[in-house]
Amino acid sequence: MASAVISSSRAATGRLTDKFGRAITDLRISITDRCNYKCVYCRTGNDGAQYSELPIEDYLRIARVFVSLGVEKIRLTGGEPLLRRGLTGLVRELSRLRTLDGEPLDLALTTNGHLLEDLAEPLRDAGLSRITVSMDAVDPDKFHRITRVPGSYHRVLRGIRASRAAGLAPVKVNCVLLRGFNEDQIVAFARFSREERVIVRFIEFMPLEEDRLWTPESVVSLHEIVEALRSFRPLVALPPNTASETAVRYTFDDGLGEIGIIAPVTEAFCGHCSRVRLTSDGKIRTCLFSQSDHDLYGIVQRGGSDDEMAAFIRRTVDRKEARHHIGEPGFLKPSRSMVHIGG
Ligand code: 5AD
Repeated sequence: MASAVISSSRAATGRLTDKFGRAITDLRISITDRCNYKCVYCRTGNDGAQYSELPIEDYLRIARVFVSLGVEKIRLTGGEPLLRRGLTGLVRELSRLRTLDGEPLDLALTTNGHLLEDLAEPLRDAGLSRITVSMDAVDPDKFHRITRVPGSYHRVLRGIRASRAAGLAPVKVNCVLLRGFNEDQIVAFARFSREERVIVRFIEFMPLEEDRLWTPESVVSLHEIVEALRSFRPLVALPPNTASETAVRYTFDDGLGEIGIIAPVTEAFCGHCSRVRLTSDGKIRTCLFSQSDHDLYGIVQRGGSDDEMAAFIRRTVDRKEARHHIGEPGFLKPSRSMVHIGG
């Protein structure tokens, strides 16, 4: 009977959409929740957490099912995905998948860059399309204070340069801005974008950390970022690349450099969200700020079929939250922090 119920439901066929009509085309897979950095805005700095990851083949199987339902873009994330053995093999297999329109997937990865220098070329050869490196300061001392790993800045810089040399262009650099830590880095990052030929994206700080650091005042807003950039040079707005683009894009008056500002707090973009996430232990998260996960991997553990997984994914996606409620009265922090959810 269950299958009859499912097949009569609105969401039973066709491409993945939620009940608000948003097409879900973008899957983020966290392939480990281990990380070699302890960034102040993410981790407590205390180790001893329990880690959980799936065998690489199971991420691949799950990815295949999502692609058969209309996913066109996959981003591998973590934890720190470059720590994961078997990563290049996974990228190679994913790059062989085709969307429902017969196109290659848009295959991206987010990394802290620490191990990137040696991996950029193998990843490109395996079929990776794009890379995003997280980097929260261009001042080496400040960088070390944020990541809590000495010597990290120069390694990450070499990783960025190796990625560009390998043709993983344009490299994106994500910078989370936290008041009192790195809002003085905005103009330095603008220069960095122009000098290193990378797209710098400033991200408003969201309440996703292990410690209780987040307050509304800790958020450096889009408005403030724009003002700081304008004090450096006149800004020129760029059109969005896609309908579900999360970043507001700018270049400068001379066309040199590109800046994106991602403002989930002050300019939420939930209305055109196309994303769903798989945690490293195989659970679906329909929103970063969900209060619960949906245990897709349980089906694999019980020996379930791809069709059962597909039906579960449809039902779960159909119930995706309308939007997050950051900063509103009664807002509850999500049950897990970013290192466990995956960026
Ligand atoms: N708020 C905003 N961005 C965050 N990231 C990690 N934690 C937070 C947070 N609390 C960023 C990482 C990475 C991306 C995946 O998300 O720095 O660039």
